[in-house]
Parts: sequence; structure tokens; C-alpha cells
Amino acid sequence: DRPVRVALLGCGVVGSQVVRLIRDQADDLAARVGAPVELAGVAVRRLGLRRDVEVPEELLTTDALGLVTRDDVDLVVEVIGGIEPARGLILAALEHGASVVTANKALLAEDGPTLYAAAAAADRDLFYEAAVAGAIPILRPLRESLAGDRVTRVLGIVNGTTNFILDRMDTLGSGFSEALDEAQQLGYAEADPTADVEGFDAAAKAAILASLAFHTRVAALDVHREGIAEVTASDVASAREMDSVVKLLAICELIEGPDGPSVAARVHPAMIPRSHPLANVREAYNAVFVESQAAGQLMFYGPGAGGAPTASAVLGDLVTAARNRLADVRGAGESSYADLPVLTMGQT
Ligand code: HSE
Repeated sequence: DRPVRVALLGCGVVGSQVVRLIRDQADDLAARVGAPVELAGVAVRRLGLRRDVEVPEELLTTDALGLVTRDDVDLVVEVIGGIEPARGLILAALEHGASVVTANKALLAEDGPTLYAAAAAADRDLFYEAAVAGAIPILRPLRESLAGDRVTRVLGIVNGTTNFILDRMDTLGSGFSEALDEAQQLGYAEADPTADVEGFDAAAKAAILASLAFHTRVAALDVHREGIAEVTASDVASAREMDSVVKLLAICELIEGPDGPSVAARVHPAMIPRSHPLANVREAYNAVFVESQAAGQLMFYGPGAGGAPTASAVLGDLVTAARNRLADVRGAGESSYADLPVLTMGQT
């Protein structure tokens, strides 16, 4: 069988685990896809660095654009993060006929529609399950499994770093910076932890969750955002006295108004009674609590960050995209959506 050839962009915490899984699970992947899955190349910023995984020298390149536009590349996996060069590379890959799997929540939340339009124009897949809540399968359930239902609210703990910090403050009475150091050492935090602490990372994820849950388009800038920098040890202690915990929540709501539905999304620290399932989401775990008309309440729980868990979600998308390539079909598109009004704070 003709192999499915994969170009990997980025070989950091997540990328190196993607390499490892493609290598270690080669037999399973081939069985599930129906053809061997091979790495065509790995684009990195610098050669000669020590990496978490051994990558054959001949696969490494610093020419990412050259790699994604090679004719023998079927799929591009982007795990560089950030807006550029990731956006340009994804667009070039789609234009050149590759399908794309990305974990890039910041890019999707900022400029998703450009990417979805490019994928539709190229008739290629663009999958991004790993962009929200790491290993937890949540995007497909919202977009596909619940598409016949009406989701009314999504409450998410979608940033592991801040959950870890708040959990340490709650259980050990730790100081903020001590807990942040520990989160960074464990590899949960973004390179610049401001994105975690100030809620930018959670707001990007809230935009993606709201877009899929309500089949509309919500951008990161539409999300009201407040981080955890102002949460003090005494706030956490007061919550404790009230049998509650402080959590950084992403809240996405469908609001029925006289002129039809609109949506709102916000991220802020919230007090939750200990009896609520979200209160028991500890350490750097993530969870997404979904309320829908027919299904009722659902909760999705699991590791939201880290190399191997995030790579698990990337590989799931990779298998589907690879199968679709072989069958010459395109998976769930982003083309049918309603443009619901997005309410900003003050309007809700
Ligand atoms: N910094 C993020 C977190 C990583 O702490 O959840 C996963 O997006």
C-alpha cells in the first residue's frame, strides 16, 4: 500500500511525542488507516539540539515551507503554536493539497475562519481536537455527536496551569509563584505563562468551544477575560470556609432572546460548591461540563496538557485525516454554521 506521508512542524514537548507515537504505534496506525503512516520530515527552528525523542538526522529540516509544499507530503501536523509562521505554513500546506492537523488554539481563535475557508477551497481536512483540553475528546462530540441536540451551556476548566495553581493554593495553602514554578517544571505552562495566568489561553479555548457548541463563530476577542493574578490566598481560604473552591472557568452560553438566540463567552475565576463535579477536577486536569436540551448534563474529563496526552489527540485526528486521504473524501467541514450575534459583557 502507498504510505501516508506526514510532515511535522515543531518538535518540542508535543511534537516529540507525536514522533514517538508514529514510530511506536506504527503497526496499529497502519491497521487503522489501511496503509503505513510515515514521517516525511520534521521542521525545527534549529538543528543540532537535544530532543526528547530521537529523530533520524535526514528527516530534520529548518525549511518548514519547503517541507509542507513537497509533493510527497499528504498530511501536515502543526505543533509550533502561535500565529506566525504557523498560519502561513498551514495555508501553504492546504493550498498545496495537504490535509492539516493542528493543536494551535491561539491561531484558530484568532483567525479560524481564514483557515476553514482555505481548507474548504482546497477540499482538504483541517482537524484540531488537540487545541482544546489536550487529550479530552471534546470538539468532535460538540461538533458531531451533539449536533442533533441543542447545547445551551458549556462550563470548562480548560487551562491546566491555572487549575494546578488554584488547586495547590486550596489544598496546600501554597503561594502563587511557588505553584506556578511547579506547573512550569511539569511542562503544563505555556512558554510565556502570562497566557495561562491572565486567561488568554482559556479565552482562546472558550472561543473554539463556543463556536463548535453553538455552530457559530466566536473569536477570542469576543470573550470577556479575567485571569487569576488577583486571586489571593485569602479568597481561596474564604471559598473553603463556604465549602467551595475557586476555579478559572470558561463559560459559553446560548441566550434565547425575543429576536432569536445569541451567544456569550467569558473566562473568569468563579466559586464552585464542592458538590459540583467541576470542583473535583484537581491538579492540571481539565474538564468540560456540557448542558444540552435532550442529553442533559455531560462531563468530559482528562489530562488537558502535556506532551503525550496532547499527542494522543493529534494522532486521533491524524488517523481520521489519513483515512480520508486514502478514501479521497473530506471529513467534518466547517461550512454550515449560523452567524449568531455574540454578546459582549454588559449585554448579558
Ligand atoms: N498551558 C496550557 C494549559 C497547555 O496549562 O492548559 C495546554 O493548552
